[in-house]
Amino acid sequence: MLFLYFCLCHLVCYFMKEIKLETKVRIYPFSELPEGERELAEAALKATGQSYAPYSKFHVGAAALLENGLVVTGSNQENAAYPSGLCAERVALFHAGHQYPDIPVVALAIAAVTNGHPVESITPCGACRQVLLETEQRYGKPMKILLFGAKEVVVAESAESLLPLCFGAKDLT
Ligand code: THU
Repeated sequence: MLFLYFCLCHLVCYFMKEIKLETKVRIYPFSELPEGERELAEAALKATGQSYAPYSKFHVGAAALLENGLVVTGSNQENAAYPSGLCAERVALFHAGHQYPDIPVVALAIAAVTNGHPVESITPCGACRQVLLETEQRYGKPMKILLFGAKEVVVAESAESLLPLCFGAKDLT
């Protein structure tokens, strides 16, 4: 009987399975964001002004809020040899990691402007999501992500929620 039970379990385990991966985000009208988050989103929008994007003309800004209240900003820096450029999120997070290596990043706001207008809820590229995740795992604290839009701001509670089935430090141990 026990043997039969084990055989059955084994069979069940190796059947094809389908799982649904879900991500939850909250979408706020800009005016309904808590004040601190509104300020962070505004800092990201302001940082688009320092973007160097002569090729794409897509100006991205990012603002990282550190646990001690400091805000570190970054913007995309392009290059004629395209892959040599860097996205705004990575400029901000690498700068924060360099200047304040021991202070966790608790939130990151991202904004973009093109043709003189803010983009509705810019979403970070795949490589940036990986760096967002590393930052979050490095400090062992969820990092809230705010995707700025003039009308609405998309809020994810963690970087991990934007990268299901992610590769991370756990895979190297
Ligand atoms: N860009 C960012 O700065 N962040 C993103 O998450 C998406 C893309 C930049 C890279 C490039 O300078 C321009 O936007 C167009 O792709």
